[in-house]
Amino acid sequence: MEGLNKVGVVGAGMMGAEIALCFAMSGYEVYMKDATLELAQKGKDRLEGVLDKAIQKGRFQAKDKAPTLNRIIPTDKNKSFKDVDLVVEAVFEDLKIKKEVFSQLDSICKSDCVFATNTSSISITLLATSVRPERIGRFLGAHFFSPASVMKLVEVIPGLETEEETVAFMMDCCRKIGKTPIRVKDVTGFAVNRILHAMWIEANRLVEEGVATPEDIDTACKLGLGHPIGPYALMDLTGNDLNLKVQEILYETYGERFRPRPILKQKVNANHLGRKTGRGWYEYKK
Ligand SMILES: NC(=O)c1ccc[n+]([C@@H]2O[C@H](COP(=O)([O-])OP(=O)(O)OC[C@H]3O[C@@H](n4cnc5c(N)ncnc54)[C@H](O)[C@@H]3O)[C@@H](O)[C@H]2O)c1
Repeated sequence: MEGLNKVGVVGAGMMGAEIALCFAMSGYEVYMKDATLELAQKGKDRLEGVLDKAIQKGRFQAKDKAPTLNRIIPTDKNKSFKDVDLVVEAVFEDLKIKKEVFSQLDSICKSDCVFATNTSSISITLLATSVRPERIGRFLGAHFFSPASVMKLVEVIPGLETEEETVAFMMDCCRKIGKTPIRVKDVTGFAVNRILHAMWIEANRLVEEGVATPEDIDTACKLGLGHPIGPYALMDLTGNDLNLKVQEILYETYGERFRPRPILKQKVNANHLGRKTGRGWYEYKK
């Protein structure tokens, strides 16, 4: 396996574009592919604002903005990935779509190119079957957190047949872009989402029982536990529809302890999805 030179990111949405940015910020050339060139370009355009915010906060230097963005090459062609050393996939959370993406790239990419998926809920071992047996050892999960250009953690998840060399390569790639990787087994929800949703479900029980309001629970977590953001403000950021979907998946695997609470279902039925609909646990000005 060669070192890391060029990177390919598939999906220029919320996660993919910022993952591409992480590599570009560390000096790597990144091909960023979406279904159309327009969508790939749109994803890149959004990064201007992300970098402006980072500059404002003193996390990034203005002089590095143009060279960083120049390293991201939007594309809609698989063949742009022929020389990349690492592919990070961040398309829709849909098994069929992801499998199609990987099987197409399998015939284009170099034989030693590592394939990483940013899936939140699909089994890595199952997704690895999208590629030929020769590549299965170089397939694994790399679960970034939103916003990916800011959050330091990456869960690195080997599938059943992932080679140790691939895990070491991915851990090293994460460190090269300033992230801290942790190794996690291929189980539903990996580690972080299990902790997070267990807490959210308990918070929802507290609200249902009238023990405390969402506002007070957010205050409790910030001032009592040192969390930078409260659970309800975070739920509104991620979206209650997605939160419910993840809890349904966790419930299917782990049973009762992850059963979504009625109050969350009610929020989704009312279209109180969070920031994106202007109302969730809080109200937002449009
Ligand atoms: N949103 C989060 O907080 C978060 C966190 C960690 C992991 N994830 C995972 O990351 C992945 C992407 O999530 P997102 O929130 O960025 O979604 P998103 O909807 O913002 O972006 C997905 C992008 O993939 C593109 N796409 C779809 N099919 C494609 C194809 N066949 N080829 C190329 N591009 C294609 C879409 O056009 C879109 O731009 C999902 O697997 C999700 O579970 C999301």
